[in-house]
Amino acid sequence: MLVTNVYLLKKAYDEGYAVGAFNANNLEQIQGIIAAAEEEAAPIILQASQGAISYAGLDTITAIVLSIAKKTKIPISLHLDHGTSFEQNIKCLRAGFTSLMFDGSLLPFEQNVAITRKIVEVAKPVGVSVEGELGRVAGSEDKLKPEEVKALLTRPEEAAQFVKLTGVDALAVAVGSVHRMTVQEAILDIDRIREINELTQIPLVLHGSSGVTNESIQSAIKEGICKINVATAINLAFTQTMLKTLNAKPTEVDPRKILSVCRDEVKKVVKQKICLFGSSGKG
Ligand code: G3H
Ligand code: ZN
Repeated sequence: MLVTNVYLLKKAYDEGYAVGAFNANNLEQIQGIIAAAEEEAAPIILQASQGAISYAGLDTITAIVLSIAKKTKIPISLHLDHGTSFEQNIKCLRAGFTSLMFDGSLLPFEQNVAITRKIVEVAKPVGVSVEGELGRVAGSEDKLKPEEVKALLTRPEEAAQFVKLTGVDALAVAVGSVHRMTVQEAILDIDRIREINELTQIPLVLHGSSGVTNESIQSAIKEGICKINVATAINLAFTQTMLKTLNAKPTEVDPRKILSVCRDEVKKVVKQKICLFGSSGKG
């Protein structure tokens, strides 16, 4: 069943769990993610970054996800992750995405507000959700020191103003995580999440979750994080398994014999995340 993020996140916000938003780049990752959600009877967000869209093709990725979503009973939303332009958002809206994101975290506040607001004005009348971003979640490649990460965190009062001015359905916040970490060692600023939640009262989104400790993730969910983005953990599971399988079977020529093992490993990791986020059985 194809749904919007608003539908999924409102229920998660009211009931105190988080919906996993899993990034996919290819057929096998999409299949592994959806199979995990089916086995856990969990709602999920399948998301494509601009990189994934240029790799797989917008129409192709949309067709694959929508054709599976229409057949399954679990609720699935197709979401644009980190859209950095108005144009990219409109292309995804037209292709059939049920949720959009404008990432204006590198822009001055007013410009971020103006473009996000414009997307909300187009998307809301046709029932498509919009996620905004305020504060900046850096990448592990930036090699920032802890005090530099701290300087980029979302300011609660500014977040409240941003939500009021834009009308977004969900807000991505910078609360201590860093994108593309391969080890779970980041600790989140839980007091900041609580304060942002008190002032905004809308579902909050955690980016860069692959590097966050499980304990910190569970505390963040209790304070209003309702959507948790996972990309690196899925890519890591896929590529490490591919490496291992190819090493074990160097003469194998049938790609299905390699890729199906990678798909199973993606399913395993996604199932673990769904259980951690408390969304098992909520679909
Ligand atoms: O937008 C995608 C995410 O924030 C994923 O971050 O690759 O660190 O899991 P991650
Ligand atoms: Zn992100």
